[in-house]
Amino acid sequence: MRKIICIANQKGGVGKTTTAVNLSACLAVAEKKTLLIDCDSQGNATSGMGVDKRLIQDKNLYHAMIGKISLQEAVIPTQIPNLDLIPSNQDLIGIEVEFIHLEEREKRLRNFLRHLDISYDFVILDCPPSLGFLTINALVASDSLMVPLQCEYFAMEGLGQLLNTLKIVQTRLNPSLSLGGILLTMFDARNLLSHRVSEDIRKHFGSRVFQTVIPRNVRLSESPSHCLPIILYDIRSRGAQSYLELTREFLNCGRI
Ligand SMILES: Nc1ncnc2c1ncn2[C@@H]1O[C@H](COP(=O)(O)OP(=O)(O)O)[C@@H](O)[C@H]1O
Ligand SMILES: [Mg+2]
Repeated sequence: MRKIICIANQKGGVGKTTTAVNLSACLAVAEKKTLLIDCDSQGNATSGMGVDKRLIQDKNLYHAMIGKISLQEAVIPTQIPNLDLIPSNQDLIGIEVEFIHLEEREKRLRNFLRHLDISYDFVILDCPPSLGFLTINALVASDSLMVPLQCEYFAMEGLGQLLNTLKIVQTRLNPSLSLGGILLTMFDARNLLSHRVSEDIRKHFGSRVFQTVIPRNVRLSESPSHCLPIILYDIRSRGAQSYLELTREFLNCGRI
């Protein structure tokens, strides 16, 4: 059964794209047929996978969302077997305004996904840093939500807002959406605050927090500039090992 996972947090720079790219790559290596959809106009997941943005000018998520091409036509293969990508670029910037009068506009991505190749085991949606049109579309299309959370002071505040949105989407638009898990990212073991925030989050959310913690790791921040997921860039790094561990937990946790 295909599972659709939305990776969202309205805060920028918390590790959404890093998690989307690296979880997708690890799932593919574990022989799960995976599709990564870049839902952010910044196109970081697209460039992080090594896609030349000039080659996707006429075929990206935007063209599928406006109905010019099918979602299937926007799919491109990546350098990793079992991993495909629907790329994005700045075309997505104005989409919210373009659809302002459209009925059921929040369900657009979900409806298009219904017609997509059913052989994927996982579809991973990398969201933009907002709770706008694209994130709502991603939440409505998904089976579960994964929230990367940076272990810093304001993390909890933002999380409350996001969980409110989750509740609204569950009530009004997608009752089958569940909270798949909270992932602590960029954890710095030498920083006392990192430990405190992580303790707080675990106290509040218990088993909904992944046991796996992603450490702050320089190799993880370098890998996008080499257009490679971390497992191809430096498999022995702590970053790579932590995303492999997350993937094992993700596949076995029973919440996804
Ligand atoms: N665990 C990590 N250790 C070090 N740098 C990281 C880590 N996770 C993400 N980064 C870097 O932090 C920045 C923001 O991460 P990103 O995944 O793009 O966040 P988001 O998609 O939430 O905006 C990027 O430059 C990324 O390479
Ligand atoms: Mg991002």
